[in-house]
Amino acid sequence: MDARRAAMLKEMGIAIWTERGAAMPEAEASQAGPQAHAAPEPPPRRAAAMPAPAGSAEVHSPQGEREQGIAMMDWPALKAAVPACTACALHASRTQTVFGVGDEQAEWLLVGEAPGGDEDRLGEPFVGQAGKLLDQMLSAIELARGRNVYIANVLKCRPPGNRNPQPEEVARCAPHLLRQIDLIKPRLILAMGRFAAQTLLATDASIASLRGKLHAYHGVPLIVTYHPAYLLRTPEDKAKSWQDLLFAVRTMQGLQSAASAPT
Ligand code: URA
Repeated sequence: MDARRAAMLKEMGIAIWTERGAAMPEAEASQAGPQAHAAPEPPPRRAAAMPAPAGSAEVHSPQGEREQGIAMMDWPALKAAVPACTACALHASRTQTVFGVGDEQAEWLLVGEAPGGDEDRLGEPFVGQAGKLLDQMLSAIELARGRNVYIANVLKCRPPGNRNPQPEEVARCAPHLLRQIDLIKPRLILAMGRFAAQTLLATDASIASLRGKLHAYHGVPLIVTYHPAYLLRTPEDKAKSWQDLLFAVRTMQGLQSAASAPT
């Protein structure tokens, strides 16, 4: 393992145990998710519009006019619609909306839950303590915010007191995220925490049961991991999140090779 990655892992509070003399890449690969599946066929990165929704009643229900309108927006329209949104009560207490940040053609899309106090103040996702940890996690896998990575949340407005998002809020706000996904066409989505995973996978399954498997959101491969804020409260699970990141890296490598293989 190179020194930079070792330093990052130390920062993250993750101890990596290696046999003396063992080659790290193999050791890392063998840690990548107990149920790691082979990478699926890569979705076309520039596919046509989002397929017909399926799944959860609330988020993916037959689209109403509002949802249909959002599903057809281009970036400028979407970036104008989010700050103007009053579709749920959160608009009344927000300082500003938090749209998302990064490379709009990124291969990696990271999805969190909702803005906290710092994000509400600054208008960018993951800029507080959880964001610092997220930046360290990205650095450990040689990624950085904005460089082939896009970061967004399920909710674009801060729930008061950082309470959990309510189902109605998720249902009203999720079309914005779904449109972001459709416009970005990432190669891989990393859903961080329960709300991101459950919203995108239209399930109420636990994080524990969703980790370590390759899922898909409308044909885009999706991996579930812990939310960085949870990891700050539960540092003993950081090692598991490292496994998830390694699984994600391996999956991305598989997707990239499959996409560049001659047909
Ligand atoms: N937690 C989130 O889920 N998103 C943020 O942007 C900040 C904290």
